[in-house]
This record gives sequence, structure tokens and C-alpha cells, in this order.
Amino acid sequence: MEYRRLGETGLMVSELCLGCMTFGREADEDRSKEIVGRFLEAGGNFVDTADVYANGVSEEITGRALKGVRDDVVLATKVRFPMGDGPNDVGLSRKHIMKGCEESLRRLGTDYIDLYQVHCWDEATPLEESLSALTDLVRSGKVRYIGVSNFTGWQLMRSLDVSEANGFERFVCLQPQYSLVERNIEREILPVCVEEGLGVIPWSPLGGGFLSGKYRRGEEPPQGSRISEAVESMEEYWDRRATERNWAALDVVGRISEETGKSYAQISLNWLLRQDGVTAPIIGARTLEQLEDNVGASGWELSEEQLDELSQASALEDVYPYRFIRNAQRV
Ligand SMILES: NC(=O)c1ccc[n+]([C@@H]2O[C@H](COP(=O)([O-])OP(=O)(O)OC[C@H]3O[C@@H](n4cnc5c(N)ncnc54)[C@H](OP(=O)(O)O)[C@@H]3O)[C@@H](O)[C@H]2O)c1
Repeated sequence: MEYRRLGETGLMVSELCLGCMTFGREADEDRSKEIVGRFLEAGGNFVDTADVYANGVSEEITGRALKGVRDDVVLATKVRFPMGDGPNDVGLSRKHIMKGCEESLRRLGTDYIDLYQVHCWDEATPLEESLSALTDLVRSGKVRYIGVSNFTGWQLMRSLDVSEANGFERFVCLQPQYSLVERNIEREILPVCVEEGLGVIPWSPLGGGFLSGKYRRGEEPPQGSRISEAVESMEEYWDRRATERNWAALDVVGRISEETGKSYAQISLNWLLRQDGVTAPIIGARTLEQLEDNVGASGWELSEEQLDELSQASALEDVYPYRFIRNAQRV
């Protein structure tokens, strides 16, 4: 596996990051440990979890799975979503960030977190308060780098400005949803990352499994699969995935799969690996076979023509103001 610098830091991360969201949920502890073991054996060194995954159990399993190799791994986790019923058990207040970090360290069985990410924007807390608390965590040695997930373009840009104006630590990377079936970050968010030198580590790189090839036009989703069970508030909800545009993109993935002998998942991940600004897609798996398949996205390259075909089939609608501004540059 190749390694890439995370944004403009000196930190080297594998070009595939292992997501641990299925641990303690679809994957029990033994299977989760096998998945971690196989990922490390393939050369991966970048692992992502969150306090909220399986209500803390994912962090506990991840910590035990990394016993003995902890210092060789870049370990990422997150804070923001509720971890209790109290009014201060949620959000990005100084109080919740400090408590969240202490509890993640305990569950992970480590004394530092490599990448501590805020999981989503919190409209109730001033950015200055959150960034000052995150800065204190870095300066105390409990956290090495800070990152962010699920922010809009203006929220991200304002965060970087607040850090600069106050001498706070700066977010070094963004974790957004990004795949052949969800490219909206290309309008406003990805350009901020490219301009400002942030790494990008996409979540749901297979759209929750839609791009694995197991879903078929005109058929119900396979029983027990993540998408078959997703409710409307979840990004991978069936009606959001099973659109004509997404089927058309999947048709192209299928054709390139026949041409190359690579799987649907490998093609979809390889396309993502080659997008401007992307550092490392976060692969998810509930079985060792899925992990093996996804790890096979690294070590080869789609041709320029194949990349173009995939990009065209999944292209975003050309909308205002981007269309107007682009056209104005020619005047
Ligand atoms: N920051 C955030 O808000 C956020 C949100 C979501 C995820 N994440 C992170 O991103 C990671 C990956 O996200 P994700 O799990 O949504 O990624 P994904 O790759 O889009 O979806 C993973 C799911 O797709 C199916 N799958 C994966 N590989 C497959 C293969 N080769 N063949 C067939 N089916 C396959 C499995 O579900 P089935 O077997 O059930 O179909 C698996 O659980 C998470 O572990 C987490 O670390 C972050």
C-alpha cells in the first residue's frame, strides 16, 4: 500500500483508511480483530472510529485490536454526538470535548489520539470555544492533530480563520461523505480543502455498499444488507441511492469491471483515490471477504479514459452560481 501525507502535515497515512463503524455492531469482536489484522498485514496504518459507534464499543474493540502495535498506527476518533442523556453529554462545548477525549482515551486503552475530529457542526457552541479546547488537548499531548467532519464550505473556512486569528491549532483534514453516488462536496467544500491544504478522508466511499455491485435495478435490496435496513434519515436510504443517475453510474462501473477483471468496489474506490484533494478513502467492511475486496482497490490504476467515463456518468448537475461564475471567466 502507498502512503500519503495527511494534508500539509508531515504525517504519513496509508492511502486506504480502515473504518471501524461496523465493530461491535455488524462485526463481533473476533471478526473485527481479524479485519484489523488483515488491514495491517496489507500495509494499512490508518484507522478511524468514533465515540458514538456502537455507543463506545467500537472504540473498545479497536483499542484491544491494536494492542502491541498502537504506536505504529495513526488512530483517529471523533466527538460531538450524544454519549449520555445529560445536557452536556453532546456537542462541541469545552466541557463535552474534554470529557469526550478522556473517555475515548480510556476506551481505546491509549494515552494519546493521533487525529481527534469534531464529528459535525454544532450551532450551539461558538467556534472559538471548541477550537480553544481542541488546542489545549494538542498542547497537553493528549491529541496530535485535529480534524473535522460534516461541515459546509463556509463553516470550514470560518474555522480556519478563527484558528489563524487566535493562534489556535488548525484542522488538518476533513472527513466528508464522498463517492461516485455523492459528489456534492465538489461544489464548495473540496475546493476549500485543496486551497487551504487540508487532507480529505471520504466516508461511505461505496455509498454504504451501493457501489459494491450487489444492488440491481428493478430488484429489492438484498435482505440484511445495510441499505435494506436504512431509514430515511440515513444517507444510504434506498430511495436516495436507487436513482436513475446512480444506476447509470453503476452501469459504467459494471462495464469497467468486465474490462479490467476488478470488482465493482475496487473500481469505485480506485476512482475516489484518484480525485484531486483526496488523501485516503475510509473503507468499511462487515466481513473479512469485503475487507479483502476493498483493500484490492490499491496497487493498480484505472486508465485516464476509464476515470473520465466514471466521472461523466456520475457528474453533478451544472447549477448557479458555479455555472455563472465559470462562464464569466471567459468574458
Ligand atoms: N464522519 C461520519 O459522519 C461518518 C459517517 C459514516 C461512516 N464514517 C466512517 O467511514 C467508514 C466507512 O463508511 P461506510 O461503512 O459507510 O462505507 P461504505 O464502504 O460505503 O459501506 C460499507 C458497507 O458496505 C458493504 N460493503 C463494503 N464493502 C463491500 C464489498 N466489498 N462487497 C459488498 N459489500 C460491501 C457492507 O455492508 P453490507 O454487507 O451490510 O451491505 C459495509 O458495511 C466508517 O467505518 C466510519 O469510520 C464516518
